[in-house]
Amino acid sequence: MIIHIFDNAEQIGKAIADMIVEQVNEKPDSVLGFATGASPVPTYKSLINAYNEGRVSFKDITTFNLDEYCDLPKSDKNSYYTFMHENLFDHIDVNEEKVNFLNGNAEDPEKECVRYDSLIDEKKIDIQILGVGRNAHIGFNEPSDKFTKGSFRVALTDSTIDANSIYFDENPMPHFALTMGTVSIMRSKKIIMVATGSSKQDAIFNMVNGDITPECPASVLQLHPDVHIFLDKDAAARL
Ligand code: F6R
Repeated sequence: MIIHIFDNAEQIGKAIADMIVEQVNEKPDSVLGFATGASPVPTYKSLINAYNEGRVSFKDITTFNLDEYCDLPKSDKNSYYTFMHENLFDHIDVNEEKVNFLNGNAEDPEKECVRYDSLIDEKKIDIQILGVGRNAHIGFNEPSDKFTKGSFRVALTDSTIDANSIYFDENPMPHFALTMGTVSIMRSKKIIMVATGSSKQDAIFNMVNGDITPECPASVLQLHPDVHIFLDKDAAARL
């Protein structure tokens, strides 16, 4: 794991965006895995700036998102589909046909997960962006007694519901989601994690220094050969 510590989220966003721009300029048809949540938003802003400044084109990339809520219409303001379009895809020249999401409303979630995993296996993710939950979840792989493999339907934990329900003012937050599994995430060629704020410091400490255990899902990243962790000083405080 290579750990980068910055003063603030904006600097982190610029540094990660530079890595992504370099990747896409070297390989225009790169496959990028994206995360939602607050942590990657400064990165997405910097990617939009890079696109507007003519430093990169995303027209040939393929994208996969980590997860999507179940039982929430795709058009809902809180769906991850909407999040990615509002925060990134609507502002760059990505080809909508190459944008991939798990369908949280699929009639047969198992079949949907198999479909998604086969696409990922076929394309192979060059860079996967990750945030981390306060409970050290990655994607929505919550603490558990075993590591997950491919995509699956997950019951969200109270910690995750508590953290994310601030976004749900009208409808209650869904309690289930479809998420890429741990093994799928680990197959990405490069992983870039971003975490900011003191609420993440225990998760970061355990991920870096603790045992590799499904009780701390992010700890599995210790086994990946090419992981960059971007932290602000608050998230890094216990290291
Ligand atoms: C989002 C995701 C989650 C978030 C994590 C941190 O697609 O998979 O693992 O990355 O919950 O969320 P924020 O960045 O909002 O603290």
